[in-house]
Amino acid sequence: MSVTAEAPTTAPGPELFSERLKAATWSDHQAAEDHGFTRALMDGTLPLSGYTAMVAQHYFAYVALEEVGRALAGDRLAGRFHYPELERVPALVRDLEHLLGTDWRERVEPTPATRTYVARIEQMADRPEGFIAHHYTRYMGDVSGGQFIRRTAAKAYGLTDDAGVSFYVFDTLGSLPRFRTGYRERLDSLEMGAATADRLIAETRLAYQLNTEVFADLGRLHTSP
Ligand code: HEM
Repeated sequence: MSVTAEAPTTAPGPELFSERLKAATWSDHQAAEDHGFTRALMDGTLPLSGYTAMVAQHYFAYVALEEVGRALAGDRLAGRFHYPELERVPALVRDLEHLLGTDWRERVEPTPATRTYVARIEQMADRPEGFIAHHYTRYMGDVSGGQFIRRTAAKAYGLTDDAGVSFYVFDTLGSLPRFRTGYRERLDSLEMGAATADRLIAETRLAYQLNTEVFADLGRLHTSP
């Protein structure tokens, strides 16, 4: 990990870093949320095959994200975001087994956009602030808007007892609003210089865009024009 000579930005300022991060990236969030594929998912019109394909793409992304997270567990910055209790790969495996059967591994492959996304996540192994950006974009989304997806998908596809939507179940975290508050406090207590903070924000924007590209691939395959 590189040692920075930049001036720390954690002194109390007019704006908390978590607020700055959200404000600077919210237009990218809206682009991801407003994508045709996401809209179809949220209004319950996405066919089950499209939902299943999304779960499969999540699998490839989270394998990469969680591997990099483990590799960076001892890092001064990224190690603050090593949350084993968030790990989603076991839930994704369960969901894919339920949705596709025990031979699911032979029936899934990453789309071109997912390959690009995974490659970018893997590059974060030596860019701790970039890893935090990807971590934030996915897990804070899963414990926020993901909770709407859980309910909508369960209803639309008749999934009961969380089978097929266990990716969105975070029972071990307790109160999700409290978890989100604690996560933001961690963002706010990061000791990093201005340039590092700017890189974290820029990488978050890219992470949203890479996610939107994955939706675009899925939309081409699974929604009507
Ligand atoms: C399916 C459509 C989506 C809906 C309905 C949705 C909805 C929401 C809502 C209601 C919040 C809480 C806002 C707040 O605390 O004020 C949120 C936060 C968030 N969402 Fe989404 N979202 C969606 C898609 C996504 C996607 C695709 C991603 C990333 C790939 C994402 C990432 C995030 C993140 C990182 C936050 C936390 C923002 C923060 O508080 O700093 N969301 N979302």
